[in-house]
Amino acid sequence: MLTFQHLSKTYGSGLLQNTALKDVSADISCGEMVALCGPSGSGKSTLLNLLGLLDTPTQGQIWLDQQPVPTDPAALAQLRCRAIGFIFQRYNLLPVLTALENVEYPLQLLGVAKSERRARAMALLEAVGVGQFAGQRPDQLSGGQQQRVAIARALVKAPPLVIADEPTANLDGVSAAQVIDLMQQLGRDANTTFLIASHDPRLYERCSRLLTLKDGVLVENQPQSLNPARRAG
Ligand SMILES: Nc1ncnc2c1ncn2[C@@H]1O[C@H](COP(=O)(O)OP(=O)(O)OP(=O)(O)O)[C@@H](O)[C@H]1O
Ligand SMILES: [Mg+2]
Repeated sequence: MLTFQHLSKTYGSGLLQNTALKDVSADISCGEMVALCGPSGSGKSTLLNLLGLLDTPTQGQIWLDQQPVPTDPAALAQLRCRAIGFIFQRYNLLPVLTALENVEYPLQLLGVAKSERRARAMALLEAVGVGQFAGQRPDQLSGGQQQRVAIARALVKAPPLVIADEPTANLDGVSAAQVIDLMQQLGRDANTTFLIASHDPRLYERCSRLLTLKDGVLVENQPQSLNPARRAG
């Protein structure tokens, strides 16, 4: 589903040059929930930005659904818009839009008609348990509620790939577990592939694979075949 080979990323130039990612390769199957771990500064966000097509590698190649990702910026933006959902640590909801409008927004970008996008967005808000807050703006919601809205927004277009950067870092233990469960439940039917950077060991237990980065190098690529959460699923 997602393959990347020999990915490297160097920021800056000359004396200020910093290689954040060094020759990273892996192959991720459809429907996997992959945790990306490693110490602060090890390159997790850098790798997610490359795989989310938000940034381009200095070297290496990415394939999505066995197609090499395009180099043309417009084609790249279109693919990102259609195929990839994002969840961030700070939720990144648009502050002037209601919860419902935030979830509708990715469908609007895809040209979905208003009545259909409203219905789909509402169904997702209900599915993540915040339907009653549909008309409220992000600043009127708790962190856990905002992250549920952000999950609904990431999944509303049923993207084959969801990229999440520390989605539980701002949440208490109970909310964090609920958020992970929701991602798993909502992704199961559509066989969504998740790639999640996290420092949270509770999340690793629920993932099908752990990728560990250290100083920009992939030091471990470990399938979690005996993972009870995945077996039960
Ligand atoms: N835009 C940038 N310009 C220059 N250097 C950068 C940039 N983004 C990241 N870096 C550097 O790349 C390295 C990897 O950073 P990255 O943000 O990928 O780490 P991380 O594993 O996500 O860390 P954390 O767990 O703290 O989020 C760090 O040394 C960082 O300073
Ligand atoms: Mg990071």
